[in-house]
Amino acid sequence: MQGRSEPDAVTDPRPTMRDGISSHVAQLECDIANGPIVPAVTPEEIRSHLASRYRFDAPADLDDVCADIERMLRTWQVQVTHPRYFGLFNPSVTPASVVADTLVAMYNPQLATWRTSPAANEIERHTLRWLAGKFGLPDDAIASFTSGGAEANFSAVIVALTRAFPEYGDAGLQRVVSAPAIYLTAEAHHSFNKIAHMTGLGRRALRIVATDGHLKMDLDDLARQVAEDRRGGFAPFMVIGTAGTTGAGVIDPLTDLARFCRSQNLWLHVDAAWGGAAILSPRLRAHLAGIEAADSITCDAHKWFSVPMGAGMFFCRHADVVTEAFRATTSYMPGRTDAVLDPYTSSVQWSRRFIGLKLFCSLAHHGESGYVDMIEHQARMGDVLRAALTRAGWRIVNTTPLPVVCFTREGLVTSTFLKDLYGGQIAWMSEVRLNGEAPVLRACITSFRTTPADIERVVREMSPLAAGE
Ligand SMILES: Cc1ncc(COP(=O)(O)O)c(C=O)c1O
Repeated sequence: MQGRSEPDAVTDPRPTMRDGISSHVAQLECDIANGPIVPAVTPEEIRSHLASRYRFDAPADLDDVCADIERMLRTWQVQVTHPRYFGLFNPSVTPASVVADTLVAMYNPQLATWRTSPAANEIERHTLRWLAGKFGLPDDAIASFTSGGAEANFSAVIVALTRAFPEYGDAGLQRVVSAPAIYLTAEAHHSFNKIAHMTGLGRRALRIVATDGHLKMDLDDLARQVAEDRRGGFAPFMVIGTAGTTGAGVIDPLTDLARFCRSQNLWLHVDAAWGGAAILSPRLRAHLAGIEAADSITCDAHKWFSVPMGAGMFFCRHADVVTEAFRATTSYMPGRTDAVLDPYTSSVQWSRRFIGLKLFCSLAHHGESGYVDMIEHQARMGDVLRAALTRAGWRIVNTTPLPVVCFTREGLVTSTFLKDLYGGQIAWMSEVRLNGEAPVLRACITSFRTTPADIERVVREMSPLAAGE
């Protein structure tokens, strides 16, 4: 029937995307789990392969090209979806999210405006509203998908500047009379250094607040620095609290921070890029208490929500300031649509991929309970890792309910240890310096496929390396 606006009923006899992609993903995961984790390859090796095989001077068979690309990806990268990848916050990905990302590539919706992609815009809005509700944000909060956490943090600083300094948008920072200052700990994400640079604030606008013995922001030092800056003629305007620091998974005291920021008229941004997913878990969510009072929040779907990169999210309770910060009018974009918001006038990006479908599809497929199981499983594996390391004589140096474990032992040279660990294809983990001290090892459970057996194996095989055997 022509002109009908309902989607067709699902009676299509064609093979489903899901069948093809899910079985491919399942096979891939199996191959990866049984293969190497860390590549041993030089730039020359890759460059000479590309130079000899891809001169682009004649068409090539697509199956051959894909097979070659998969070979390269399987052998020439750190396998972040490997169950023994205990690394940075790069997850194993759900097949539902891979199907979704493929559909996005096929239909290629343009998310700059609502009118060009009504379905995609509403799917994103629906997903973001659901998650905003989980964070305890009000119904009129605004949110958008971003390329990742760095862009979400960038959005937060631009919006906070716009509210604190109305002259910033048109006249620029040079017209702001007092120099603005942002407060964060040394454990906060390093994207804020670049953001201070890019916004024109300058890197020296960042004030490093001291931490307590557990690497959480020290509120006394925060209050002292804010007062001192005000006396010195600076303009404090923003505090960054982190919910799950990159190095050690530490959660700043969000409730106290929110109270302090409210009393001082400071914008509180909570960077929950990784840890934000814990809001779904009945076991973990109490550790994020206070996040509901934030002015803005960063949370990445491409971290603990286990969907492919890049999928960040920016949430803000002040919709009016967001639309002021990102306002734009053109003669060539489809005209404004009443009652809906065009993403290009309320976020950093202009043309934008349908980022949110992978989270929507994965949530729809697994349901909230499936996500709770995935997240709590990984938190439990963090506990299993801590216990196994302690039994094997390692010293745990961080405190967090989240599955990031930092550890060391007497006389350990982390760089040598990691070289041997990678060489033996035992696991991938990294080193980190906490509080400016000597490097320690950092292992994060970031795959929903990691089992106690994986952990026991890694800890068992690490011991001789640490002893220099
Ligand atoms: C706490 C935190 N914030 C922000 C980011 C930046 O996120 P992205 O890499 O998605 O830009 C990270 C990355 O690991 C992070 O750990």
